[in-house]
Amino acid sequence: MRTIRIPLSERSYEIFIGMGLLEAPGELRGFSSDVSGRRALIVSDETVYALHGERVSGVLREVGCEVQGASLFEAGEPSKKVSVLEGIWDDMVRAPLDRRSLVVALGGGVVGDMAGFAAATFMRGIDFIQIPTTLLAMVDSSVGGKTGVDHPLGKNLIGAFHQPRAVVIDLNFLGTLPEREILSGFAEVIKAAVLADEELFYILEREGPGLIGNPALIEEAVSRAVAVKAMVVAEDELEGGKRALLNLGHTYGHAVEAVAGYGAYTHGEAVAMGLDFAVALSRAKGLIDELSASRIENLLRSWGYKKAPEGLSAEDIKAAMKHDKKSSGGSVKWVLPLKIGEARWGLEVEEEIIDAQL
Ligand code: NAD
Ligand code: GLY
Repeated sequence: MRTIRIPLSERSYEIFIGMGLLEAPGELRGFSSDVSGRRALIVSDETVYALHGERVSGVLREVGCEVQGASLFEAGEPSKKVSVLEGIWDDMVRAPLDRRSLVVALGGGVVGDMAGFAAATFMRGIDFIQIPTTLLAMVDSSVGGKTGVDHPLGKNLIGAFHQPRAVVIDLNFLGTLPEREILSGFAEVIKAAVLADEELFYILEREGPGLIGNPALIEEAVSRAVAVKAMVVAEDELEGGKRALLNLGHTYGHAVEAVAGYGAYTHGEAVAMGLDFAVALSRAKGLIDELSASRIENLLRSWGYKKAPEGLSAEDIKAAMKHDKKSSGGSVKWVLPLKIGEARWGLEVEEEIIDAQL
């Protein structure tokens, strides 16, 4: 088991990473004392709860957590909205939870974002813990405290920063996750490597997607990706500046998701295209050396990611990028790789350079 601590003064917390962690929760130092003797509501989606809910409830009860049941909703991004959140608030009131109670987010990023926002807003904020069950949630959304729901006019527009009390990453959950979802999560692992971990990049390059069958290497890759996110969040919790680095590949990726229609490409497939696009812009601006650029492109191909979407208009993608919520004052701020393990945020890119790559 690995433990990574996010140092955020009184909001500091531990992220536990390993195979089968929930089989011996008493061994997670600090975790059992955090949950024992507290009322809790599990928030999950119907798919995840059917697969893992009863077992996780049993494990929490074993360490003395007073689980009051579960608040469930239909799996998928369309559930990430205020009307579904109201149902969670109702279940919290009926449980009943109080200011000392706990929300347990059991699921992927949709569950984590919703459960976290429910916890952030109930009685002006109660504790929650994250038990992520998708790779994307393990390496990205469960860590860092961004919570929220979508608005009909845009993703994640309603939300709050609310850090979890602990994150338990039990890699055994990946055993039931479809391979396409695993590959979606690996795009964020590749992003982390490009941003700040050359050794992780080398491991991904050397092993290729065969790594997915090797539990020790999955643990290594997940831990390293989480460590990159933890380091960035510790330096810039509220995204005043440096946290924007985590958006590498996301300006173009979000545009592809929006124009293709959510669900046509997974988030990771779109982010991988965004990494290619960021390399192309960085190369055109003379910011990245050719060896690093081609290593990133080759890695993305060897892991099976497509370079660009099919059948989408360049004009639509350009318009969607301008609407990205990270654009301010009408100009999109880019994150571009400088070499493997280093990137720069807050960059302007001339329109002609963007047009030439679209
Ligand atoms: P998701 O939560 O919709 O999960 C994907 C699918 O996998 C769902 O159908 C779910 O039921 C199923 N599933 C989950 N775990 C499973 C398991 N172990 N076995 C079988 N099926 C399982 O999607 P996601 O990709 O995990 O998360 C995407 C969401 O995360 C988006 O809403 C995005 O905005 C958000 N996000 C948030 C942050 C953040 O910092 N808060 C960062 C990145 C993404
Ligand atoms: N997923 C980007 C962030 O957490 O800041």
